[in-house]
Formats: sequence, structure tokens, C-alpha cells
Amino acid sequence: MFINFWYPVGRSEDITHEKPYHAKILRLPFVAFRDQNGKAHVLSDTCIHRGGSLSAGKIKGDCIACPYHGWEFDGEGKCAKLPSLSGTKPPPRAKVDSYPVQEKYGIVFAFLGDLPEEERPPLYNIEEYGTPEWKAQLYELHLKAYYERSMENGMDPIHNEFVHPMQGAPMLSPELQREPVPMTDIPYGSKFYLAFGGKKDYNTDLSKDKEGDRLGAAGSWHQGPNQLVTWIDITKTNSFHQYLFEAPVDENNTRIFFVNMRNWMLEDKFDQRIEQVTLQIVHEDIDVLERLNPVRTPENNSKELLVPGDYAVVRYREWLEEWEAKGWRIDMKTLREKDGDVAYAIPSPARRESGNWVLDTVPLLPAKEKAASRTKKAS
Ligand code: FES
Ligand SMILES: [Fe+2]
Repeated sequence: MFINFWYPVGRSEDITHEKPYHAKILRLPFVAFRDQNGKAHVLSDTCIHRGGSLSAGKIKGDCIACPYHGWEFDGEGKCAKLPSLSGTKPPPRAKVDSYPVQEKYGIVFAFLGDLPEEERPPLYNIEEYGTPEWKAQLYELHLKAYYERSMENGMDPIHNEFVHPMQGAPMLSPELQREPVPMTDIPYGSKFYLAFGGKKDYNTDLSKDKEGDRLGAAGSWHQGPNQLVTWIDITKTNSFHQYLFEAPVDENNTRIFFVNMRNWMLEDKFDQRIEQVTLQIVHEDIDVLERLNPVRTPENNSKELLVPGDYAVVRYREWLEEWEAKGWRIDMKTLREKDGDVAYAIPSPARRESGNWVLDTVPLLPAKEKAASRTKKAS
């Protein structure tokens, strides 16, 4: 699990001015609420007085009030009111981490990290969202599985034949299956786009491919560790574009916010059927993912027997290594050891501007000059 990426916190409709919203992400607690102008805020959910859970408190004006002694924190995380010291200015240390927020696709996202705005890996931009040619549905899923396993499942073109009879068990040609999945790098990720149904095709330029008279082609790519895209082009004009924004709850659980877009069957009467079929297919994946052993991806690729069809998974793991080398990977072992003894916060951008914070920042694995070669190319 990594800091310095955008994570989905909750559906827009669930984050209100009436009641604080609690979310656990990256094993840490967060609170979300709206101020009087309707702007959504996401803060660390640990009150720095004596550890109260802000999400169990109340929203008062533009602030969230701790249920324990009533300290109030504004959307920027600053303590605006400290009742037991009324009449005096709250001390400078009276602040909690507040995270940059973007609200898109009916989802509130938070940037969980301290990078300045110009250095942040982007939130995925769905270009067709909101255009009249496309319709979107949003589903929220809970998996008893680790998010990297779920992401890898999305980057696996071979499993469809075995896991998805509902989709017609789409299959790559035997030739394609024997060669490494052809990958193209994109900013913060890699992608593939392939013809299913025995047609050999190495062209991964999506926009060019969409011009052609294609039937039964699909592609997947990731941007960052937790944003996954799958385009399913059934015919030239009939497509599903699926965007999965994954929030690791902890090392065993994941919440997925799934934006399912289509450019056909646009009428409302089709919504229910499309949702039902899509979720049935998703549950075919979940049934497999919740039984994987080990739960988390092994530390070394030699602990699995990878074949050329796993190359997209290997590329994803190589990207994770790069972000680990930057010092962005959370040290889960230390975090687990300190569980119950130390309250941590993900560092927010404000920590780069001022010192004097009460909570320790989450332990991170050390940055490296260059990514160690944990992963090897599929044999
Ligand atoms: S613990 Fe939050 S106000 Fe005391
Ligand atoms: Fe699948």
C-alpha cells in the first residue's frame, strides 16, 4: 500500500453536511464531511487532543467537533475552537492532517500524501464521462481480498476464459497466449489491448484500433497502484468502458468504486439488467480473489510460476517497485507491530510547510536509489 496517490473515500451522496462519514483506507482512519458551502473535506480521523474519533462527533458550521471534549477542526484541519480554553487562541499544534480532495464521477477522492500539487500523480480522467453518447453507473463493492491481487486480476487477459462463462469465456489465440502480453507504457502505468477470439493482433494503440472494424477486442491498463481501466469493445460501436478506483481498507480488505460506462443500450430500462450482469461477472472474479493463497502478493516472483500470459501482472509489479523506490510504500510490518500503541497519520501537504504536528506519520519503507530487481521478466 502506497501514499501519494488519489484514493476513493466514499460516494458523493454519502458525504453530507449532516453526519460525519468514516472511512478506513491504508489501514488508517479518515473522516469526511461537507462544510456549509457543500465542499467536501477529508481529515485524519484521530483527534490530536486525546485520540477521540472525529467521525463520531458532529458537524458544526464549517467544522467537525470531537465527541470527547468538543474541540472543533475546520476543513483545513486547524483547530478553530477549544472549549476548555475559550477566549484564547488554540495552540499551533492543535491541527490534524487535511487532504486535497477532488469530487468526480459521483465519488469523493482524497490525495493521501504530502506531495505538492504539481508533483502529484493524477486522478484518472474519464474523457467520455458526462458526454451524451455515454451513460455511467456507479457500483460500490467490498472484497475480502488485497487490492494488489484485485488489480492484478484486471491486468490478466488469460483468466477470462476460465472465470467468466457469463462473458462467453473470451479467449486469446494459442499464439497470443504463448507470448508475453504486449504492453505499452503510459504515465504511471502500462496497458494492453488485444483481440479475443483467436485473432492475433499486437496493436496496442487504442485510439487507432477503435477506428477499425473490430469485434471482441478488449484492453486493460492501470494508472498508479489502484486505478484500473478495462475497455471491452464488443463491436465497433458497442463498448463497455469500466473504471475501477480501488481503496485498500487494510491488507485483507478492499473497497472498489466501479464506474461502468456504455455507449449503447442508453435507455434507463436497461440499467438494471446491465448492473445485474456486470455484478455477476464481478462476483466471478471475487470468488477467485477471496480464496487466493497467500492473501497478499508474494515478496518474490519466484514464489509463483509465472508464464508469458502473466507479463502484464509483472509490469504492474515493476511499477510498484518504482514507487517503493521513491519511498512511498507503507511499512506494513511496523504498522502492524505498533497497532494499538501508536496513532499514525498519512502526511498531508501542510506538513511540508509547517512543523509541530502531534501524530507520527505512517512508517514507510526506505527510498532507494534505484528499484531493486524484485521482479523478473516472465520466462
Ligand atoms: S479527544 Fe478530541 S477533544 Fe479531547
Ligand atoms: Fe475478471
